[in-house]
Amino acid sequence: MGICEGRVAIVTGAGNGLGKAYALGLAAQGCKVVVNDLGVGAHGEEGATRGAAEQVVDEIKAMGGQAVANTDDVAEWDSGKRMVEQALDSFGALHAVVNNAGFVRDRMFFTCSPEEWDAVIRVHLRGHFCTSRHAAEYWRAQSKAGNPVDARIINTTSGAGLQGSVGQSAYSTAKGGIATLTLVQAAELGRLGITANALAPNARTRMTNTGAFDMEAKEGEFDLFAPENMAPLVAYLVSEQSKGVTGQVFELKGGQVFLSQGWTDSPAFDKGARLEASEMDAIVRKLIETREPAKPVYGAA
Ligand code: NAI
Repeated sequence: MGICEGRVAIVTGAGNGLGKAYALGLAAQGCKVVVNDLGVGAHGEEGATRGAAEQVVDEIKAMGGQAVANTDDVAEWDSGKRMVEQALDSFGALHAVVNNAGFVRDRMFFTCSPEEWDAVIRVHLRGHFCTSRHAAEYWRAQSKAGNPVDARIINTTSGAGLQGSVGQSAYSTAKGGIATLTLVQAAELGRLGITANALAPNARTRMTNTGAFDMEAKEGEFDLFAPENMAPLVAYLVSEQSKGVTGQVFELKGGQVFLSQGWTDSPAFDKGARLEASEMDAIVRKLIETREPAKPVYGAA
């Protein structure tokens, strides 16, 4: 018996790449899945992979699982409502939202157009907001009605969001925002029986197939970047086993699980009185010298 038996989850962007691996992995663990995917390209091109959600549903059914397709745009306000209703109509329950859908439009900051900026921020940040917002409203109503709630929000951040990435200012901004959103959701929604965690994956998908990283499988070695390596943590987070685990940001690579420590205060200088502008330079440089070095921005020289 799988660890997600009896659970129902929405997985956004589940027609390709990581979302597909999550949906199949969840179904293999007994979860019923609403497979959402708009069927766009790696840069959000319309119609590039039309039918992707239905294909994943067919694969899940072929392995004996239960799934329904949804082809809404995650960043449309009403889409989240439709996905929640679809889960309830099809399976009579909803326990988890896995926010995964997204695309990149990489540009150096000085050439990024407002349209590129808005499109990337919209799909990731607004996409995370719209889907979870409707689910949280549903779970809150359940909780108020006295029905037990043991629900999950699983967000997708990125190393780009946690430490920055050259050529990805909009994407890094959105993914950093998602990590912080996760902390706020965990703090606000815990009393309703909802946990919120985020995952920064590392996998070979069309999104990372840019030539910038060597993610190819090596003959005879563990396939470090197979998207399927990311699915067990998602299944665990969806399952009842992860009850009480909340406000965490995980980074996964192959068989390695990291917990991100986030922004933290260290070290500090205290004059005990208002600082003078003329003394700031010495203080700031001393603090920079004594702090733990930050992880470098990806791609920084
Ligand atoms: P992918 O391009 O293979 O899959 C993304 C899926 O999202 C596609 O099927 C696409 O049609 C769907 N999608 C895009 N916009 C949508 C919208 N508005 N509504 C509904 N569906 C939409 O990319 P991949 O690599 O699987 O990425 C999945 C998530 O993981 C993304 O949020 C990405 O930023 C994140 N990520 C991926 C990493 C990796 O190593 N592949 C690293 C860090 C984060």
